Amino acid sequence: MAPSRFLLFVIVFNLSLLCVVQCNPDYRDALAKSILFFQGQRSGRLPPQDISWRGSSGLSDGSLAGVDLTGGYYDAGDNVKFNLPMAYTATLLSWSVIENSRKLGPQLPAARAAIRWATDYLLKCARATPGRLYVGVGDPNADHKCWERPEDMDTARTVYYVTPASPGSDVAGETAAALAAASIVFRKVDEGYSRLLLSTAKDVLQFATQHRGSYSDFLGSSVCPFYCSYSGYTDELIWGAGWLFTATNETYYLDLLKSVGPGDGTDIFSWDNKFAGAHVLLARRNLVNNDETFGAYRQKAEDFMCKILPNSPSTTTKYTAGGLMYKMGSSNLQYVTSITFLLTTYSKYMAKANHTFTCGNLVVTPDTLRNLARRQVDYILGDNPLKMSYMVGYGSNYPKRIHHRGSSLPSIAVHSQEMGCESGFQPYYYGSSPNPNTLTGAVVGGPDQNDFFPDERGDYSHSEPTTYTNAALVGCLASFAGKS
Ligand SMILES: *[C@@H]1O[C@H](CO)[C@@H](O)[C@H](O)[C@H]1NC(C)=O
Ligand SMILES: *[C@@H]1O[C@H](CO)[C@@H](O)[C@H](O)[C@H]1NC(C)=O
Repeated sequence: MAPSRFLLFVIVFNLSLLCVVQCNPDYRDALAKSILFFQGQRSGRLPPQDISWRGSSGLSDGSLAGVDLTGGYYDAGDNVKFNLPMAYTATLLSWSVIENSRKLGPQLPAARAAIRWATDYLLKCARATPGRLYVGVGDPNADHKCWERPEDMDTARTVYYVTPASPGSDVAGETAAALAAASIVFRKVDEGYSRLLLSTAKDVLQFATQHRGSYSDFLGSSVCPFYCSYSGYTDELIWGAGWLFTATNETYYLDLLKSVGPGDGTDIFSWDNKFAGAHVLLARRNLVNNDETFGAYRQKAEDFMCKILPNSPSTTTKYTAGGLMYKMGSSNLQYVTSITFLLTTYSKYMAKANHTFTCGNLVVTPDTLRNLARRQVDYILGDNPLKMSYMVGYGSNYPKRIHHRGSSLPSIAVHSQEMGCESGFQPYYYGSSPNPNTLTGAVVGGPDQNDFFPDERGDYSHSEPTTYTNAALVGCLASFAGKS
């Protein structure tokens, strides 16, 4: 081979390699990992599992109230079970499965198992004591003073609940949404379980609507500032009623939706604020089923998209120079994945209805939304200025020092002696070594507004994973991984 042709070969070869890494992410690999992550967040008695550095934990959860509240998920890098974000996680995982069941392909059973780990626990919370909805286990202020493995956790496992006298329409509305959405997922594979989910969802939504109030007003520093209901509870009432209506078609829920109204316009979608999610969910009735009753939800869903799209005259959303949607400094990727899930889902509904809309003079087609969604997913998987994957264990350059107690401390499988509340700080938390355990699939808070990521354990705003960041991404990845 002549030297010049050899050089050309090297350049072309390297360009194509670059493209394998950057232009063509392995969505299927990322999808499998995004679901595997949930095993690392499990509380309760663990079966043999692929994330083998974790063990059983929280086995007496609920005992302080004389009930069994074992199971469920730790929300992020700590050892607390907060039901508001856990239920949101279960709702988004369920929605991801409902919209993409064929595209999930071989990952469908794992996705269902990830939902069930949450809903088994949420069912206990709703059914253990009549007149009470349990909404969390573990004193977050005590937990956050420690850096210890979930398997060693020795802080107070305080049990929190709402009642008719101290209600929580926010956490109850979200719990009802999760149970109703999951009832659709299990309808064809486990009829009895699906019926139990649906009947419990109805009871919990009844509780949310009959006794109105925000759980933050009654539980104070046990849920705030961690998962304070900043947006109030109207969004969860619409969201809960929307999911119950989707699961049943019962006029009762339609009437409830009408009495609450379509709610506020927003430019966010998160564990706190679900207006946009409800608008997209119910817009489907207008777009796909031609039901004029839901025209107002479609309008709200499209106003939302116009606030997100970068070239829209009414946009309120910032993007980094590298192209990442940038909503908030703390754990920004949670907003990116939740909003991106709405982009892929609304795009799908539009395509089904052969529908387009406009933001001022910008014509929005299904591809407009899907292209923006793909750009966000690709950024997360490594197509960004740092060439960094923000999913642990995906690609070769990913966060190595995530803010996560279990991942950052020696596994009980290799270090069986107990480690107390503070024994994890030195050398593990404050040290600079990579975490000993890989929390495969975990998506961290992500880069700052300059596309920069320090990869420091103490930097929880950028380095902590959460269940709801991943839950939304599961649907996005399935949407790009599958054939259709
Ligand atoms: C509810 O009605 C819609 C629109 O007719 C239909 O597509 C859907 O399958 C129904 N769902 C249930 C649970 O009956
Ligand atoms: C979709 O809409 C476009 C423009 O409104 C129209 O030209 C086209 O025929 C429609 N396609 C279908 C399948 O209805």
